Amino acid sequence: MYKFVSAAEAAALINNGDIVGMGGFTPAGAPKEVPTAIAHRAEEFHARGEEFKIGVYTGASTGDSCDGMLARAHAIDFRTPYQSNKDLRIELNNQDAHYFDMHLSHLAQELRYGFLPKPKFAIIEACQVTDDGEIIPTAGVGIMPTICRLADHIIIELNEAMPAVMRGLHDIYEPADPPVRREIPIYHVSDRIGTDCIKVDPAKIVAIVKTNRPNEVGKFTPLDETTEKIGANVALFLENEIKAGRIPKEFLPIQSGVGNIANAVLGAIGENPHIPPFTMYTEVIQDSVVGLMKEGRVTFASGCSLTVGADKLQDIVDHIDFFRSRIVLRPQEISNNPEVARRLGLITINTALEADIYGNINSTHVLGTKMMNGIGGSGDFTRNAYISIYTTPSTAKGGLISSFVPMVSHLDHSEHSVKVIVTEQGIADLRGKSPIQRAEEIINNCVAPEYKPMLREYLSLCKKAHTQHNLALAFGMHRQFAETGSMLDTKWEKFL
Ligand code: COA
Repeated sequence: MYKFVSAAEAAALINNGDIVGMGGFTPAGAPKEVPTAIAHRAEEFHARGEEFKIGVYTGASTGDSCDGMLARAHAIDFRTPYQSNKDLRIELNNQDAHYFDMHLSHLAQELRYGFLPKPKFAIIEACQVTDDGEIIPTAGVGIMPTICRLADHIIIELNEAMPAVMRGLHDIYEPADPPVRREIPIYHVSDRIGTDCIKVDPAKIVAIVKTNRPNEVGKFTPLDETTEKIGANVALFLENEIKAGRIPKEFLPIQSGVGNIANAVLGAIGENPHIPPFTMYTEVIQDSVVGLMKEGRVTFASGCSLTVGADKLQDIVDHIDFFRSRIVLRPQEISNNPEVARRLGLITINTALEADIYGNINSTHVLGTKMMNGIGGSGDFTRNAYISIYTTPSTAKGGLISSFVPMVSHLDHSEHSVKVIVTEQGIADLRGKSPIQRAEEIINNCVAPEYKPMLREYLSLCKKAHTQHNLALAFGMHRQFAETGSMLDTKWEKFL
């Protein structure tokens, strides 16, 4: 009854100016072949001198066959809520595409509220579609339930590389909107509150494209000394919190961010014998979780995606009965939900690009102007955590940049939400401390030795105040880097 077509035929349904919502979350479960075919269609239009750009909503980042292909074809008019593709990053920073960097938990509800135009098409990946319109997502859920409901038309990539046994991993739930919204009834990490599929009117499914493509999830770089030390310091902090009775002895669910450091931190927590087996209520389930689960160190993981390498995904599929009782994949509105984060008491661990001596965090803008990826889910979790932890190497670019500066060049998470900062140098516990006490804690424990005197001297050049700053000097280290390519030789008197 459904129309099975090629990716090019499906892409031909999309026209200049259309708004498309993509399924999945990170490259996990993101559509691949139809976005690539849309990019080729855009190139054909551009070759004829005709316009072709579309608006794109996603769960988070996608794979290169989606964001990368569309960016290189200059086919994106606007994009929200998150990306991490190098070619798309160039488009955004050149203002060739408009980017609305937003908290991931907000997107589905803001689409429903009408704050953003509704998508005409939902393009999603599934491992199974039934005749009565039951769609089983694959390794990522993202905003799928909402875009499938709001879009006029649905295009499905039925990916044969993702077997139908994945049914039962997902828990699909969309809250009602105010003023009739009730509590989200998740009281334990493993609670299931929805259905195992997305149910749509079959008449909306205008095309199905059969594919056979693994997820485009990248490999982790091997741990180096810095990431290992950061991981060990986070584990040590948590161990001491349990000993001090500030974290209950049965422990609390962990949320951990994206990337190499997050993966290393989880590994270190898993190895620490003083930390009991733990659960995760997180956004992205990364590689290290799979091993920790098999060892019994992680007892349950709730997330929005299985952003794992092909070997790990195969492992999950091969042992699906084991993993189905230990993993649940939810829409990002639920996996990142502030109400649930606060109720469950999450220990959140995310990564900063830059922090200041008072504990403000920049997660997104390199040197204050260039977008790196986006805020992602870090704000959803940080603001509502039991304890919010930020990790970062103390320096970047081989030591030429200090990750700690007098004033962040862009603010994503304020001093009011950030409780602990950890680098390879040590741990700064900011709880209950005044700004000047926080500055001392951060400089003493987290800053690289070569930058400590510079930041202490900065403080000595500020007039006493609740949060002391010298506005002529606050960006002196950034200005020095812009001039010479290194913060190391910052001389404050030059900027006075
Ligand atoms: N100034 C300038 N550049 C900096 C910098 C700074 N203070 N700190 C890092 N960089 C550069 C690095 O040198 C590196 O550059 P390269 O790509 O040219 O090598 C790049 O920024 C990324 O740094 P890296 O240490 O490799 O980062 P990462 O992979 O650990 O990611 C974030 C760090 C902040 C970019 C990433 O965690 C992110 O996008 N976070 C926001 C979203 C989020 O937190 N999501 C999780 C919520 S669930």
